Amino acid sequence: MGSWTLCCVSLCILVLTQTDAGVIQSPRHKVTQMGQSVTLRCEPISGHNDLLWYRQTLVQTLELLSYFRSRTLVDDSEMRQDRFSAEMPNASFSTLRIEPTEPRDSALYLCASTFPTALQNLPLPVQKPWCFLFFPHLPAV
Ligand SMILES: *[C@@H]1O[C@H](CO)[C@@H](O)[C@H](O)[C@H]1NC(C)=O
Repeated sequence: MGSWTLCCVSLCILVLTQTDAGVIQSPRHKVTQMGQSVTLRCEPISGHNDLLWYRQTLVQTLELLSYFRSRTLVDDSEMRQDRFSAEMPNASFSTLRIEPTEPRDSALYLCASTFPTALQNLPLPVQKPWCFLFFPHLPAV
């Protein structure tokens, strides 16, 4: 009797109104098994130097995961670096990778870009992108 556990992490990106020049985030929706890897992709607005990955869970407000300025990682101190990694190989592309996924990764994942010198402090996202990751249910074992 092979007991098996079906643990799925659902990753969906809810696309809000997207202007022509908005931040582009993909995939829209992703369902994967626990322990797999998920890579979220983001294209910032052209000309924006700052790119930020956030997430929002039911229990926490926005958490900054990583913050790139001119492709240089400025801050990822809040990110769990054992399982999360963010990269920005060029000015128009960034990835956030989670591996292995766990149910507690359930969250709304956000990518944002902004102008480099628009604000003194940590920039607020100019665009509010969207990525919802949730853990739907654990079947009874
Ligand atoms: C940025 O990097 C991505 C991934 O390596 C690549 O697909 C894309 O073509 C690159 N864009 C530019 C403008 O170099």
